[in-house]
Amino acid sequence: MLVIFTIAQNTSKNMFEKNKICQLLNIKYPIILGGMAGITEANLVSAVSNAGGLGVIGSGLMPPSWLEEEIKKTREKTKNPFGVNLYLQNPKVQDLAKIIIEEKVDVVFTGGGNPLPLFPYFQAAGIKVIPVVPSPRLAKKMEDSGADAVVVEGMEAGGHIGENTTFCLIPQTKKLLKNIPLIAAGGIYDGRTAAAAFLLGADGIQMGTRFLASKECQIQESYKKKILEATTDDIKVVLRFTGHPLRVIKNQLSEEWQKLEEKGAFPEEIKAEKIVSAKITAGDIEKIPLMAGLSAGGISEIKSCQEIIEEIVNYLANIHESTTNFTNKY
Ligand SMILES: Cc1cc2nc3c(=O)[nH]c(=O)nc-3n(C[C@H](O)[C@H](O)[C@H](O)COP(=O)(O)O)c2cc1C
Repeated sequence: MLVIFTIAQNTSKNMFEKNKICQLLNIKYPIILGGMAGITEANLVSAVSNAGGLGVIGSGLMPPSWLEEEIKKTREKTKNPFGVNLYLQNPKVQDLAKIIIEEKVDVVFTGGGNPLPLFPYFQAAGIKVIPVVPSPRLAKKMEDSGADAVVVEGMEAGGHIGENTTFCLIPQTKKLLKNIPLIAAGGIYDGRTAAAAFLLGADGIQMGTRFLASKECQIQESYKKKILEATTDDIKVVLRFTGHPLRVIKNQLSEEWQKLEEKGAFPEEIKAEKIVSAKITAGDIEKIPLMAGLSAGGISEIKSCQEIIEEIVNYLANIHESTTNFTNKY
């Protein structure tokens, strides 16, 4: 209860003044837009940063020219800090890293591989590095190697997932980390789930699916509608047999993948690159990977990024009162 009490007091007085993620990233609220390959572009990123969170460009398998342009466009739309999510399997990863360094982006999030060889370059350029990892062990390794913070992502998340749940990852990682703050991702989408993450020990939260269903997100309206309509029964993990499980809302494509798996297909029959680079902002809704997390089951309204962030912050601010009632009663 103490953690929630502290959040609520800070929220009502001086919002998150002492929060470690806010201090590290120089942002108002410890709420981060998870980088999403090709989806989190200048409009969405700047909307989150302008609302007091941290927007993150998702470079995925996009070419370096795309990243350079999105960084420049984002700068035109916000004066606030923002980051880039670097997908380490991108064959042009070194060129992308060069752009991040040349453009002096505030912070880089890494995913899909081992970021350690890139640490010295970012550190020499004064760019903060926050790896996204699926286990407490890797989070600790990142801390020992000089990361500025870590994101632990639970298997509730949308897109490529690990095997651990957010509920176990947060406290177990928190226990191992000695010096750097912890960001939690996977299954966080509203005030209640955010409060739970903070209570479990997170210093900040990262959301993907909730921001997919925002006004500023450029995915097609039919994709957003699928998110609003989905229940947890519609959200599946597919492609386990490839070694790269993917959480999606089921559609024709996911059913086809399931049939392939049942027929004993080899992993090589599915090209991982095709999933990351799929143009999910357009195209037939039945034929694209409808990546989304279990959060989709709880999302029922499209709001602007500012409304989403305000909704969560207001919930955290109000929780003090209910917590006091709870502790008085029991
Ligand atoms: C459509 C989609 C694409 C994603 N692409 C990436 C990516 O390129 N790199 C990455 O590190 N994480 C990626 N993620 C994960 C998000 O950054 C975020 O951590 C995750 O969505 C959090 O869980 P949630 O979906 O429950 O909010 C993606 C997630 C989704 C839903």
